[in-house]
This record gives sequence, C-alpha cells and structure tokens, in this order.
Amino acid sequence: MGQGQTLSAFLDSHAVDPQRKAVAAAVAAIAAGSIEISELIGQGALAGITGAAHGGSNADGDVQKDLDVKADEIIVAALKDVPYAALASEESDTLLDGDPSAPISIAYDPLDGSSNIDTNMTVGTIFSIIPNQPGVKPFTAPGSCQIAAGFVVYGPQTSLVLTLGDGVDIFTLDRKAKVYRLIRERVTVPADTAEYAINASNHRHWEQPIRDFVDECIAGSDGPRAKDFNMRWIGSLVAEVYRILTRGGVFLYPGDNRPGYGNGRLRLLYETHPMSFVMEQAGGAASTGRERVLDLTAKTIHQRSPLIMGSIDKVKRIELLHTDPSAASRSAPLFARRGLFRV
Ligand code: AHG
Ligand code: MN
Ligand code: MN
Repeated sequence: MGQGQTLSAFLDSHAVDPQRKAVAAAVAAIAAGSIEISELIGQGALAGITGAAHGGSNADGDVQKDLDVKADEIIVAALKDVPYAALASEESDTLLDGDPSAPISIAYDPLDGSSNIDTNMTVGTIFSIIPNQPGVKPFTAPGSCQIAAGFVVYGPQTSLVLTLGDGVDIFTLDRKAKVYRLIRERVTVPADTAEYAINASNHRHWEQPIRDFVDECIAGSDGPRAKDFNMRWIGSLVAEVYRILTRGGVFLYPGDNRPGYGNGRLRLLYETHPMSFVMEQAGGAASTGRERVLDLTAKTIHQRSPLIMGSIDKVKRIELLHTDPSAASRSAPLFARRGLFRV
C-alpha cells in the first residue's frame, strides 16, 4: 500500500488468523498508548512530568522516574482489551497475568532512557510479542521465538519502528490526525558506516576484546582499520537503534567488571531481545560478543544481557576479537603501542 499508509491499515492486512489478529491488536494498542505518552512528554513540566524520582525503584534497582510509572500505567490501560496471557514490564517486579489461553504474551519497557527525561532528550517505549502456548510458562523461549517487536522513539518526530517478522517498517505520528503513517518500508541497516556507540567512561571495566575494538576505532586512519571513526552515546537505547537503522554503525553495551554489570545493563526480555529482532530483520546483527542474542532464553524476568548490534561487519569484528585475541591490532607489532589507554 506504500508511503503514507496508516498503521491501522498496515495491521489490518496482517491480521489473517487469531494469533496475528492478537499481534495486530497489541501493536495498535501500544501505538495508541504511545500517542498519549508522546503528548505527556511534549508537555513536560506543564503536565507535571519532570523526570523526578517517583519514590520507588524497580526490580532491577533503577530509581523509578515519574514518567516510568505513568508510561507503564498508560501501556497497561491501552492493552486492557488485548488477548494476552502475561505482561512483563520493566516497571513491575512480577508478571501481570492475563488469559492463559490467549495467543500472545508481551514484554515491554514503557519508558526507555529515563535518565534523559529531565534533560529534554529522546526517550522511547520498547515492546516484544511472543506466542503463548497453554501450559508453557510465558517468557521461557529463546528470543528467536518472537513474532513481533518494535519501539516508539519520542524525538523531534514520534516514530514507531515495527517488525512483524518480515522486514522492518517505520511509521511517523501525524499529530494532527493522531495516526501513525508509513514513512519507510523494508528498512535495511547501512553496511559500512564508521560510527560506534558505547559509554566510554566504562573503559577500565571492559573485557580486553571490547577495549581492542574501541582502541582500533580511536586509532582511526593511523591504525589497523585505516579509517577514522565517529562516536555517539545518547543514553537512550531507542535513539541509538533508530540512528543505526538510519545510517549504520554499531552499538555496544557489553558486560563489564562493575558489580552487577557482568551481563551489562540492558534487560533481555524487553530491551535486547526486541532490539535484536528488529536489527536482524533489518539485515544487521546482534550478539553478546560470544553468541547471538536471539539464541538466549531468559531465566528471570529482569535478566540482563550484553548487547552488541548494528552493521554486520562490525559485529563480526567484535565477535572475532572475542574468539581470537590474536586478531587484535595490539598484538600486531606495527600497532602494538598505539592504544590510547594505558592497559
Ligand atoms: P532505561 O531508562 O529503560 O533503564 O534504559 C536505559 C538504558 C538504555 O536506554 C541506554 O542505552 C542505557 O541504559 C544507558 O546506560 P548508561 O546510563 O549506563 O550509559
Ligand atoms: Mn530501557
Ligand atoms: Mn525503562
């Protein structure tokens, strides 16, 4: 149907059986909730949203911001007529039970990038939809079992990135009509962009392969990669993924040796599984550095996983550095002393 098509028309064409109807209803509901969240964010302090601590913390120990809690309430309310067996939310310690015979379950991060709320920076909502099998505990399958995933990015535009398992499409909110409209179909990750995203302040905590990759990027045209790299770090996973879908590059939130960060900071069910599904559907790759994120299965709702995703060539380079340390330039005589950080 093409550019300008509404999200609801796009979803109607998908809803050809009970499970797909449930997926379409879930995406439409999350989209409707995101319009309300977008308006709240756009109003900010005028709507009482300041990013201030709400007074509690979530199961992962994050201090809950006012918008974390409000966004979670909006998403739960939006999903009230959707046939789900269980919801897994970043903001809820336990699963929210629904109808055990429903065809789907949903994991979501109602507000991603909470540390950016009070600085008027981009934040988002992330969701993952999995099939439900009666008698099988929800959220106990590998990420490759997802049947839909996506995210809303509340930036200069409010846009929804969606995969239903057959490519990635992007919709932008038509604020006047309050509907999402298709702006980009079958999005693919540009292959060779010299850009990486990592929180460089954690350098001393990283494992050697991550240091090797970042040092190669910093060495630029003087080093083994023979080209200069750019770096970005926004502090909102949704913004990083949207940028990589738009212009390529690689994002790294690896495990590191800080207490509690052995598997990084991002959570498997509602951050790294959905983003990895989107990335692979767009022709990119998503890895822990040692294995494919979509092969991972959660043992607990808020389990973390490392996430290295983006253009395939860079993810493969980082995986090689994990499996074959001799591939690192520091072990090559010419570049041995060129790392900029004292090891
Ligand atoms: P959330 O706000 O849902 O907890 O997610 C924040 C995540 C992710 O969006 C971002 O990439 C990362 O945390 C930033 O982590 P640091 O603050 O450690 O850089
Ligand atoms: Mn998040
Ligand atoms: Mn969050």
